[in-house]
Amino acid sequence: MKYLLLILSIFCTVSVWSDHLIVGNVSNKVILANHTKVEYNAIPFMKRVKYFFYTQTDNRLIQGIQALDTLHSKSSINITAGGVGYSYVNLRLKSERGRGLNYDIGIYVQDYFYH
Ligand SMILES: *[C@@H]1O[C@H](CO)[C@@H](O)[C@H](O)[C@H]1NC(C)=O
Ligand SMILES: *[C@@H]1O[C@H](CO)[C@@H](O)[C@H](O)[C@H]1NC(C)=O
Ligand SMILES: *[C@@H]1O[C@H](CO)[C@@H](O)[C@H](O)[C@H]1NC(C)=O
Repeated sequence: MKYLLLILSIFCTVSVWSDHLIVGNVSNKVILANHTKVEYNAIPFMKRVKYFFYTQTDNRLIQGIQALDTLHSKSSINITAGGVGYSYVNLRLKSERGRGLNYDIGIYVQDYFYH
């Protein structure tokens, strides 16, 4: 019984692991240019792959990107194009098998005030 509890608690610790993506500056002299909640429902036994594309409409470049997995699942997220130092970014989101996607994405650009 003691061992079972131990194994259970290890399993629980592992299963709260989740994938966040934080690159560049998300707090230092930057402003939030776009905040989007990306939500897709789960499809049984399937991994969902979705893309999030963002383009900055003025000439400021992206300084930071923060994407938080609000489901705390074993999803993964990657930058496939652009990113910090570019005016655009393409993110690839892949869910855990049989689970949905739920990301809180913030795109940060230079604050005019400091420029
Ligand atoms: C974040 O901003 C500071 C101050 O503007 C700068 O020195 C630093 O290089 C930046 N870091 C990144 C990762 O862009
Ligand atoms: C944020 O970016 C997304 C994706 O490019 C876009 O659909 C959405 O309209 C933007 N939101 C705002 C407030 O500009
Ligand atoms: C995508 O991101 C995951 C972690 O989020 C990483 O393990 C994997 O290597 C990345 N894949 C690519 C193709 O960069």
